[in-house]
Parts: sequence; C-alpha cells; structure tokens
Amino acid sequence: MRTVASPQTASTTRSDVDRRRILLVESSPAAQSILRGELEAEGYEVKVLDDPEKVASAAVEGRPDLILLDPANAGFDLVRQIKSSQETMETSVVLLSTRTEVADKIAAFDSGADDYLTKPYFSKELLARVRTRLRVRDSLEASRQLSNQYVEMLFGIGSAITSVFKLDDEVEILLRQALVGAGAHCGSVWLVDKGGRNLQVRAVQGYRDGGPSVDDTLPLGAKIPALTGAADDTPVEIRLYEDREARTVFVPMVARERLVGGIEIQPRESARRFSPMQQKMLFGLASQAAIFIENTRLEREVRSMFLNIIVSLAGAVDAKDAYTHGHSLRVARTALIVGREIGLPRERLEPLLMSAILHDVGKIAIPDEILQKPSRLTDEEFEVMKGHAKAGAKMLAHIPALGEVIPGIRNHHEDWDGGGYPDGLAGRDIPEFGRIILIGDAFDAMTTDRVYRSGRPVSAAMEEIRQGRGTQFDPDLADAVWSAYEQGKIHESMPQHTPGIYELIEQIQ
Ligand SMILES: [Fe+2]
Ligand SMILES: [Fe+2]
Repeated sequence: MRTVASPQTASTTRSDVDRRRILLVESSPAAQSILRGELEAEGYEVKVLDDPEKVASAAVEGRPDLILLDPANAGFDLVRQIKSSQETMETSVVLLSTRTEVADKIAAFDSGADDYLTKPYFSKELLARVRTRLRVRDSLEASRQLSNQYVEMLFGIGSAITSVFKLDDEVEILLRQALVGAGAHCGSVWLVDKGGRNLQVRAVQGYRDGGPSVDDTLPLGAKIPALTGAADDTPVEIRLYEDREARTVFVPMVARERLVGGIEIQPRESARRFSPMQQKMLFGLASQAAIFIENTRLEREVRSMFLNIIVSLAGAVDAKDAYTHGHSLRVARTALIVGREIGLPRERLEPLLMSAILHDVGKIAIPDEILQKPSRLTDEEFEVMKGHAKAGAKMLAHIPALGEVIPGIRNHHEDWDGGGYPDGLAGRDIPEFGRIILIGDAFDAMTTDRVYRSGRPVSAAMEEIRQGRGTQFDPDLADAVWSAYEQGKIHESMPQHTPGIYELIEQIQ
C-alpha cells in the first residue's frame, strides 16, 4: 500500500512500502476507534495508547513519525520531554485540544508542538495537517542528508587535495565525491590547461559509452559536447549549463574570478533532474574545489621557483669547481633512482631531490685554490675541503622549509662503518638521505672525467659500489642501486647526460 506522503521526497529517505507510523494518544475509546480507522484508511500504521505515562518510552521504542495527542491528557511537559530528547526530537507532535484560547495555542507551540488543532475538527483537515507535517519532516531530513554529504565532500576534498605535484588523483577523488554527493550516475572533471585556452578532461567516471575521454580537449568558450542541446550561447565559463534532454549539468569551477575548470555531471536514471538544493551543493563543491586546485597550482609555482633557485645555487657551486659541472643534478638523478628503488613515498622523494641537489652547497665556502687544485690535496687542504658538509648544512639551517633536507647535506660523506665525516656516524645512525646521496656522489665521481683521470665505465663503478657494500655503503642501498642497474635504470651512457630539474621532478610524479 502506498503512503500518503509525497513519493518524491519519501523516496529519498524510505521506500514506498515502508509505512508511516503514528502514535495516537487518546483516552476515549470512541474517539480512538474513529481516528484509528481514518488514519489506517490513509495507509498509516497506527499504535494507540491511552496512558500518557507510557508515551515517552513508546516514542523511543516505536520511533513513530508523528504523535497525535490531547494536552488535556498529557500536558505540555510531555511535549517538552519528547522534543528535548535526542531520540525523539525529530518526531512530529500534533496536538488535538478542546481549548480554543490563543494563550493555550501559544503555550503549545512554545512547548515544541508542531501543530495544534481544536476539537471538534474535520477529519479531512486533520489528515491534511498530518500529511503536511510528514512532508515537512521529509524535506528537513532530505536537506539534512544533503548538508551532511556536502560537509563530508568538502572535508574529503580538503584532505585529499594536498599534493603539490600530482593533481590527477585528487581530481578523481573530487569527481567521486561529486557523484556520490549529488546521487549522480556519471560525470567528468575538466580543467583549464596550462596555456589557459582549452578545457581538458582530467577524470571520467561512470560512462558506459559516448562519454568524454581523459585528455579530450575543448577550446574555452565552446560548449561541452554533451550539452549541445542547451538553449543559449553563453560561453561555458560563466554559468551552470543544464541540458534537460541529456539531463547533464556543467558546474564551472571558478577561483579568483578565473575559470579553473568544471564538473560535468548526470543524475541517475531514476532522478528526473537535480533539485535546486543539489545544484547549489554542486556549485559549492565546485567553488571549493576551484580554490583548492588554484592553491595547489600556486603552490606548485612557488615550489618550482624555489627549486629553480636551489638549482641556480647548486649550479654556482658546480661552476666554481669547473671539473664537476652538472655534478649536483647527476647525483640527484642517481639518488632518486635509489630512493624509488627502495620505495620511498612521494613526500620523501621531493626533499631527497633537494638534498641531493644541494649536497655540496657548502663548497661555496671553500677557497678556489683548494677546490680547483688539479693535483692531490695535502692533509691540511683535505681537512678544509671536508668542512663543506657542515658548512652547507649551516648555511641553510635557518630555512624552516629545508628541515628535512639538511641532514642529507651534512651527512653525505659518512661511511656505513663509521669511517666518514663530519660526525663519524655509522650504520642506520647516518640519516637516510646522507646514505643515499653518498652512493650517488660516489657513482658520479667514478663515472665522470676529472682533470687527473678519465671517467670509468658504469659497470666498473657498479662493481666498486658492490665492493664497498657494508663498509662504505649501506648494504641495502648498495643492493638497491645494483638492482636498478640490472633492470637497466642505470646504463652505460647515463653519465654523459646531465638531467634538467624538470626531468628530475617528473621522476617523482
Ligand atoms: Fe660532498
Ligand atoms: Fe658531491
């Protein structure tokens, strides 16, 4: 049997076969019988109580959708009690009273009652009021669910969009959140590309066929293909498109008055179209996402600027030592190969990259005659040279963003057996970045030409690293670099090419 509540709203909270429960509190057997009959004829499940004392507990146990009661029997205190309990505060309370004074009605509403009807009443009016109360309850419930979903979505996006280098995963999450939140069936996320001229598909979900594909592009200002039926020609960047035929909306993501992209979304087959509430929610979601994406982009720009400064700094050091041109970037390349081989997460690879690029930055403090001396250094000169590790760490110590980067700079000359410098650390006491950079540093020193000798083949350098396993080098890392070599990730011609910074950044995406 169908319920009397609006099927559209009811379907969002309960199924049609789920009957509405009404608790009727009435002491007169005659009135009980008439009311019960009328309510049941409307499809409600009715429970009758004649003892007001039992109403509060029956409301908790039976979870009625609505309570009908006469305050002459129960008093306003009972209404207050129902409306202040966590378990029953959502239950609608309709009072049926013989008292017609305005003061009584005010007292009733003040106690929390949802409606007030004076006896005698027309049963049609009573039934209409019951229907109205249940409808209001449904729409409150639906909007609460929607706002819960919205809050969850925003939190989801806030915590998901955190990476500075990789946006695609976050865009996938954003789309999933939007689909779940809007109860939608399929959709896609489009972002404005680097040049700012095109929209590019970055994520697609739920299409069986005929939907957009990742990397599809569309010139800005053109319409989304699914929306060709849309009535007006307003460019896509400034409004929410709704194509009733295709039941598709395109919600623009706008941040700082600039179009960042958009979410294209379709409701489920069963939903005719998005409600104004859902559309608002999608707008809210899209603008939050736009801000996150824009911030991520800005952060990437700042990071990229920061990395460029670091590369220039390292380049200045390499230039001072004419024989090691490009050394820092090549060391960073090998360090990343080792870091990836041992499964370092992305969040660690980025500081590893910076640490490796900056590992010799302290050489700026070393006099040129020592740094550029073509012959072997004297013991005193070597002591001065050794100072570069500490000097580099000290130079950068005041930059909080480099906290994770500095140990690799200070300790990149520590040997596994404790025979290195500057701190004479051994084994796992040596910071991990220091142990990794040491391998990259040794590999580059062996494989590049120096004034007093030419570079050795990669195979010989690899053999040397294997020999130093457990004495100079961390055995696990020596195994990792060997494994990378065997897989062809390190090859004979590699030392001849010095990578650029963006080539390296790509390695950690
Ligand atoms: Fe060094
Ligand atoms: Fe070095």
